[in-house]
Amino acid sequence: MNRLPWNAGNPPTSQSNGTLELRRAIARLYPGADEENVLVTNGSSEANFVSVWSLVAPDDEVALMLPNYMQIWGAARGFGGRIRPFHLKPELGWQPDLDELRRAVTPQTQLIAVCNPNNPTGAVLEPAAMDAIIAAARASGAWLLCDEVYQGAERDGVTTRSFWGQYEKTIIVNGLSKAYALPGLRIGWIIAPKEQIARSWMHHDYLTIGPGIVSDQLACLALADGNREAILRRTRTILQKNYPIIEGWIEEHGDLFSLVPPRAGAIAYLKYHLDVNSSELAEILRRDQSVLIVPGDQFGMDHYLRIGYGPREPYLKTGLNRIDATLKALTRSRAVVT
Ligand SMILES: Cc1ncc(COP(=O)(O)O)c(C=O)c1O
Repeated sequence: MNRLPWNAGNPPTSQSNGTLELRRAIARLYPGADEENVLVTNGSSEANFVSVWSLVAPDDEVALMLPNYMQIWGAARGFGGRIRPFHLKPELGWQPDLDELRRAVTPQTQLIAVCNPNNPTGAVLEPAAMDAIIAAARASGAWLLCDEVYQGAERDGVTTRSFWGQYEKTIIVNGLSKAYALPGLRIGWIIAPKEQIARSWMHHDYLTIGPGIVSDQLACLALADGNREAILRRTRTILQKNYPIIEGWIEEHGDLFSLVPPRAGAIAYLKYHLDVNSSELAEILRRDQSVLIVPGDQFGMDHYLRIGYGPREPYLKTGLNRIDATLKALTRSRAVVT
């Protein structure tokens, strides 16, 4: 690793949209973008929030990919938007139902929002699905907001193609919290056409004003040549080491679980075939085992669980064993469902 890029006698000056050095380092990741296409935010959650805030007014239609990290679902509704969902389907390997997409996007659509790679399924959109989403956006004139925060955390090492550069009204959200494993820095970013960056920046000024300078400079270090690749390599090594652990654990349970293997992110989205509500199950696990999982109810999909498999091996195995103890007790008292 390089040394920190400042010394006590020469402290860097913070900037509300991110330092020039950081914005340039980010812009380099997006062909055709320069520092004026970048707004640095406090996490990618803030990037999503200011994007939605700056674009969605009461009664605007928002076509939203589901399941999803549900922030845009909540924020868009909070600003008075009307959600028109289109779904990733397990029977399509968690690809979107393209007929439903075309029905969800209308001439009134203000925003189409996708998450790719996807939270919670870990799916990566196939080129045909990306093309269909871009075509739908172009036909309606809608903005396209793409949360790509899991880009770089692919199990097979193939970096997910960004939506950037294919449609003029595209907004990319990304940050250091997931693939870079640096969530504590609270550094995210928006890449967008300059007029949309200006709109987001104005809203950002009402919210947190700017990123902290220490995080800004550490982000420069993380994105420096060599460091960036080393960080992403570490992430992929963890995924490749841990995925077989959770995969083996699922197999040990025979028909209890179904899983479309995630392609990216340290999250597995399992369907379970037991007659217990997912929020109830999550609460039993929290209360009795001190294990936290996300119930499918949070994504509007009962009988699913999202389990993170990123922790260190002993911690992960302990968590899975504790889930086993609860499942063993439940399978004695609850019916198996398909
Ligand atoms: C898809 C997605 N986007 C954004 C976020 C927010 O992350 P952060 O604000 O830490 O960058 C998360 C966090 O789980 C996420 O899963």
